[in-house]
Amino acid sequence: MLHRAKLVLPLLTLSILAVANPLEQREAAPGILEDLLKGVLSPIAQLIKDVLAGAKSAIDDEKSNKPWSCRLLKTQCCVWWDVSADLTGLFTGSDGECNDNARAAVRMGFHDAGSWDQSSTHGGADGSLLMDFGEQDRKENNGLQTIREVLRGVRSKHKVGYADIVQYAHNHATITCPKGPRVRTFVGRSDATQAAPTGLLPDVHDSADNLIALFARKGFTPHDLAALVGAHATARQRFVDTSPAAVNKPLDTTIGVWDVEFYNDTLNNPAGATADQAVFVLPSDKVLSVHPKVKDEWHMFVGDQQHWNEDYAKAYVRMSLLGVPKKELWGLRDCTRTLPASRKTYP
Ligand code: HEM
Repeated sequence: MLHRAKLVLPLLTLSILAVANPLEQREAAPGILEDLLKGVLSPIAQLIKDVLAGAKSAIDDEKSNKPWSCRLLKTQCCVWWDVSADLTGLFTGSDGECNDNARAAVRMGFHDAGSWDQSSTHGGADGSLLMDFGEQDRKENNGLQTIREVLRGVRSKHKVGYADIVQYAHNHATITCPKGPRVRTFVGRSDATQAAPTGLLPDVHDSADNLIALFARKGFTPHDLAALVGAHATARQRFVDTSPAAVNKPLDTTIGVWDVEFYNDTLNNPAGATADQAVFVLPSDKVLSVHPKVKDEWHMFVGDQQHWNEDYAKAYVRMSLLGVPKKELWGLRDCTRTLPASRKTYP
């Protein structure tokens, strides 16, 4: 009896400690991810470490259907198959390509996670942009209001976390676009308890050196940055140039497809958009494409879909985990298998 009590008591204390106090502040451990992934790791933390180091691919094409056992036994990823089915409907256009909701979800994942750097004690991939902290009114988040409402609806229907739905939606939108990578998708983050810090998202008119430095403080190399801005392959602009001819102009000639045309389009056109220009080139993309630390990689992505997809996925796994506290990284779950299948060739 005494033996049992001796065993049960510490276990009980441990499980009480493991359940997060709802009033506890969600604090990010300062430091880039590699600092947090040292020593003996849980299997999931080891997987993340291997992906970030390039020892394992950040793309996982293994899809499975929702298991029958979900009805009886709520296995780990059950709810995400249902979320995935809803997002497929919301993100796919009638032409089978990804639509405005999808491109906004891709941007939202970045704006939520990217509001963090290595000295931040809060912010990052914590869902704060989707929550009620007023971040949707910040100028840099113009254009994200509709997707915010859409994702809030999906979140409340399925009762998943704000932090997780934002990153899950990013990865789902990416794979919904034909040719997009199936980025490894982790869930189990806790939600924000306050608004993200300001001033940590990039300015479209900033110099390439400043943009490279801003991303370096989040743990990204210039190579990663070249891959990440490729998300503009599926983007439009509305607020950089508000003249009627420029509003809604795509940043890529094949906006519904996750392809490498963007890298060509940016090289072959001047910044902005002349009347006869099919695409709008963001000043930030233009300066990055010719910067000595970025341009070689930029040119390598031209015509090389596989290379870009691999590099994008690796950089985005890092993005999706910015600011996630160390103790949470240990207990994340890999729910990539709930995403739709990839479409490597299109049309
Ligand atoms: C140097 C870094 C970056 C800068 C300066 C930048 C800036 C911008 C700007 C100005 C727009 C147009 C907003 C508008 O007028 O409607 C835009 C759109 C977009 N950005 Fe970025 N961005 C950067 C990096 C990224 C990254 C890392 C991602 C994703 C991982 C991303 C994804 C998107 C998407 C998908 C859109 C289109 C949204 C839509 O059409 O609704 N951007 N970005």
